[in-house]
Order: sequence, then C-alpha cells, then structure tokens
Amino acid sequence: MFSLLRSLNVLLLPFLVALLPSLASGQQYEGETIPNSLPSVPGSELAYIKITDPKGSGSNLTLTNYISHNSAGDRVDGSSTKRAVIVIHGAERDPGTYMSNLLSALSQVPNSDVDFDSVAICAPYFPNRNDKTTGYPWDHLPKHAANLIAGHSLDGQFVNRYAAVGTELGLTTPISYWIGNPNSFVWFTTDRPLDDSDCSEYDVWRDGFTNYIEINTYGDAIVEAGRDAVLARYNSRSIAYGRGVQDLGDTSSTCAPGTTGGNRNERFFNFIKAFPPSCPNPGVVGPCSTIDYVQAGHDASVMFASSAGQDRLFLDNFNGTGDIAFDFGYPRRQTGDDPYPNSALNGTASTGPTVYYAGNMSYYGCFTDQDPRSLTYTAYSSISNTIGLCTSTCNDAGYTIAGMEYGSECYCGAPLT
Ligand SMILES: *[C@@H]1O[C@H](CO)[C@@H](O)[C@H](O)[C@H]1NC(C)=O
Ligand SMILES: *[C@@H]1O[C@H](CO)[C@@H](O)[C@H](O)[C@H]1NC(C)=O
Ligand SMILES: *[C@@H]1O[C@H](CO)[C@@H](O)[C@H](O)[C@H]1NC(C)=O
Ligand SMILES: *[C@@H]1O[C@H](CO)[C@@H](O)[C@H](O)[C@H]1NC(C)=O
Repeated sequence: MFSLLRSLNVLLLPFLVALLPSLASGQQYEGETIPNSLPSVPGSELAYIKITDPKGSGSNLTLTNYISHNSAGDRVDGSSTKRAVIVIHGAERDPGTYMSNLLSALSQVPNSDVDFDSVAICAPYFPNRNDKTTGYPWDHLPKHAANLIAGHSLDGQFVNRYAAVGTELGLTTPISYWIGNPNSFVWFTTDRPLDDSDCSEYDVWRDGFTNYIEINTYGDAIVEAGRDAVLARYNSRSIAYGRGVQDLGDTSSTCAPGTTGGNRNERFFNFIKAFPPSCPNPGVVGPCSTIDYVQAGHDASVMFASSAGQDRLFLDNFNGTGDIAFDFGYPRRQTGDDPYPNSALNGTASTGPTVYYAGNMSYYGCFTDQDPRSLTYTAYSSISNTIGLCTSTCNDAGYTIAGMEYGSECYCGAPLT
C-alpha cells in the first residue's frame, strides 16, 4: 500500500482565520500571567492580553495568546507591520499547532517583503473545562475561561458566524475573513436543502437564528434586524473560502448540519449555492468573496501552506491596493461545482483527483497517533515542512508511508500489513 498517512489528532476539526491587512495600533494592556503548560512554539511567545470587561462590571479578563516574533526574535514592531493574521483554533483547543502551521506557511511565501517583520500572527486560546492544569489552574476557570467562552461560543465554525454577527471593530484598515473546511455554516434562511423533518433543532443557533436572541447577549440588535439584514451584513464582508477537495468528513454533534449536507463537502457546495460569494471585480478594493479549491483533506497545515492559502492569507491586498495575488478565486461557480452534478450519483461521495508524491504516495487520511509512534522513524521537525518534502525524505530513506503532525513534524514508516 502506498499512502501518505497523516497521524494527526489535532487537525480533525475545522480551522478558521480572520485577517486584518495591517495593524491599527497595539491598544492592549499587559494582562495577568496565567500558569499553564501550553507548548512553546519556536518563533512565537505566549502573551497575556488584558481585555476590559465590555459589560463594565469591573472584572477584566486576560486572554492567553500566542504572538509571532520578528526576524530578530523580538515582538513584532507595529510600525513595520503591514498585516495581522488572527487564527482561531478548532475544538481541540490547540492554538500552538495553528501558530506553528501559520509560521510554516509564512516562511514558504516566496515574496521577500512578506516575512516575519511585515506580518504579525496571533493565535488566541479559548480553553474549556478539559484544559485545567494545561491552560489554567483550577482557581482561574470562572474568571478567565468561562467568561471568554460564553462570549465567543467556542466552535470551529467561529469565523463564519463572526462574519455574520460580529461587532464592527471600527478599524480604518480592511478586514478579511478566511474560512477553511468548516463542519457547518450558519444558514440565513429557514429552509434547508435537505429534509429537516426529523431534526426539530435544525435552525437553532449556531446552525440558524431561531433562538439567537434568547441565548445570546452579543449581537442581538443585528439579529433583530432580520435574516435579510444579517445576510446583507455577511455579504458586505470580504470572505475567502478554502475548500479541501478531499475533505469528506463530518464531525457534527447534532442533526442540524445534516440538513444542509451529509458531510463537509456537500455542506460547502450547498452553502455557496444558496448564498453565492461575489466578487465582481477582484482588482477593486471592497468586499470580495472568493473560493479556492485545494488538494487537501481536513488538514490545516496543508491548507495554510498551499499556494491558495499563502496567497489569501499573506499576499492579497498586501500593499492596500486591492490586488488579488493569483486568479484562484472570485466567483468560480461553474458546472460541476456540486458534489453530485449528476443526480444519478447522489449519495456517492466524490473524491477529487488524486495527487501523487515521491514514491507514488498519495493522501490517505487523518489518523490518531499513539505511543509508541505508529510511524517509527522521526525524519525531522521544521517550519519549512511541506507534504512534498516529507514524502520525498521518507521515500529517500526507504520508507513507503509518510505522516505529518503539528504542521512541522515529519514521520516515516513501513506499510501496514
Ligand atoms: C480593568 O482594566 C482597565 C484598563 O486597564 C483598568 O482601568 C481598570 O482599573 C481595570 N479594572 C479592574 C477591576 O482591574
Ligand atoms: C508591494 O509593493 C511593492 C512595491 O511596489 C512590490 O515590490 C511588492 O511586490 C508588493 N508586495 C506584494 C505582496 O504585493
Ligand atoms: C439528487 O439531489 C438533487 C439535489 O438535492 C435533487 O434535486 C435530485 O432530485 C436528487 N436525485 C436523486 C436521484 O435522488
Ligand atoms: C501510482 O499508484 C497508482 C494508484 O495505486 C497506480 O495506478 C499507478 O500506476 C502508480 N504509478 C506508478 C508510477 O507506480
């Protein structure tokens, strides 16, 4: 069996990014250091940012946050920064992995003025109760963790919802949203493409808006304005969708996502069919929503480091001129942009073309690693890691399986028998 094995226990869930193509100014206060055992990520540090309680109750919060370093190994100097990338981790709550993946993707951008000095990356940490002693000691939970989670409805599909109901940040610099392989999208109408008769909660928040106002204190005025207004607001955003064409998974915990598609592949196409992204002229500054198709499964490291990922995350509108780096995206709906373009094939999951790497390896899927490791040979750990490099290294060393973890690590093994 020739295969590319990804032994990942960290990238099975959606991952999302918001982009701010240049920093306003660092209006943050130093927060309280929260003891934790989050991993150190070379090229970044853990910083603690104070957030003033928006309800004014005098109980400030501290956000634990990875921030990238510049080429000198110091905190990035805001005056030389042209872009900030804020990456929101998935349900595994592993911001260090996302920081590592984005540092790797940034290091691979061929444009020499796009580097660790001109781009700042931050990966905030939204812990939950499973993170005691990892993300915070017991006595910090109510103050630092629970309040934050409630405010952000921690979920891998955060950015799609944030683009819909998020508060205007009032920045003078444009903001873009990058949405990669979400498990579900918030739906802006009450109808669904698939049967919802067995799913009474199909339209509850976060899959719809039915009970939004009862359960949220954030964004109520936006939702009260009605679904058309929320959709118009969403459409006024600049959103880049990244679609891993081999991502056919499903990590739903309720029946609601299933009313928009049987898996992530179907949900993506049904969503863009119902709420088409638009970009009439990608050369003009303004809301421009694009779609990129990437040869990848549900794998953040590959999505970020792909050509489309590099272009959307780091290059588009880098100089503020509205330039789009490469003609991957803008409205690309075309015949066949459907998981089942031939209705006779309904229910037959499509796989997309296969890419072959060194040693004729091809993508096999996401797997959970264990101790001792499933892939016995540790090839290297490098932020310059790519699928091509890892597969060729393993192939050269005589192995037939290659696996990547945390974006930077490459492991090799013999075929499973
Ligand atoms: C919260 O932070 C603000 C800004 O730093 C500060 O003025 C205020 O005193 C803080 N409140 C508490 C209760 O620490
Ligand atoms: C930004 O503008 C400079 C000067 O025109 C150019 O050399 C550079 O390639 C541009 N960078 C990007 C990422 O577009
Ligand atoms: C396949 O799905 C499409 C879209 O949901 C539907 O219009 C069509 O009737 C289905 N075809 C079959 C054979 O079930
Ligand atoms: C690579 O693998 C594919 C699928 O197993 C096979 O069809 C193809 O012949 C292989 N190519 C080479 C050069 O071995």
